[in-house]
Amino acid sequence: MPEEIGLFDAVHTMRAMRRLKPDPVPDVLIRKIIEAGLCAPSGGDVQHWRFLVVKDAEIKKQIQLRYKKALDQLLPRYRSAPPPPGKTEAQKNRMLDAVVYLTEHFHEAPVLIVGCLVGDMAKAIGLPKMSGASIYPAVQNMLLAARALGLGSTLTTRHLLHEKEVNDVLGLPDNAETFAILPIGYPMGKFGPVSRQPIESVTFQDRWGVPYA
Ligand SMILES: Cc1cc2nc3c(=O)[nH]c(=O)nc-3n(C[C@H](O)[C@H](O)[C@H](O)COP(=O)(O)O)c2cc1C
Repeated sequence: MPEEIGLFDAVHTMRAMRRLKPDPVPDVLIRKIIEAGLCAPSGGDVQHWRFLVVKDAEIKKQIQLRYKKALDQLLPRYRSAPPPPGKTEAQKNRMLDAVVYLTEHFHEAPVLIVGCLVGDMAKAIGLPKMSGASIYPAVQNMLLAARALGLGSTLTTRHLLHEKEVNDVLGLPDNAETFAILPIGYPMGKFGPVSRQPIESVTFQDRWGVPYA
């Protein structure tokens, strides 16, 4: 078991860990991760989330094939896009190398956790922007829990480009949708601080455009 880390340490060091060892992850840790997810809020506390813990080699491979197909479509666009704010072209290219690595090895992650919603309440009440809001907090809790347990992961969504095929692979009923896939495993590299734009660049005081004091 890794040493306990504080919440803020976990938040500040929970990077996308795309290079994972194939070593098995104990079921007890996967349970802890999901239980952390279940502590998240959901609209009206309806808890319409469902999670699929995928360990079956053939099912993982079938998902990887769709995930890879999506990257093949998107990679030229990723390569020609400007670097993220505050990052250099070299940093962007290093990230893309990691993206390609994860894509090639997606099925080798010992566990994939697929975050789903069943019966989209947000759409039903005319607030489609709210859909993901009842699953992504749980996903973030799971990412932080994985970090606290010394496990690496990445929030991935690219499979959605071939959503229907992935739904079939996973046997989803018609009223269920996937929102994220978290490949989970022991990281090859080390956790380190995330780097983001400073608070002043993205925060206003009272009205848009007024610097935050
Ligand atoms: C909505 C969303 C979708 C994402 N989809 C993918 C994905 O499909 N594949 C992937 O490798 N990373 C994906 N990411 C991870 C982001 O690329 C990553 O969080 C971002 O680059 C910051 O990485 P860092 O925390 O290591 O700095 C996604 C993140 C979000 C929030």
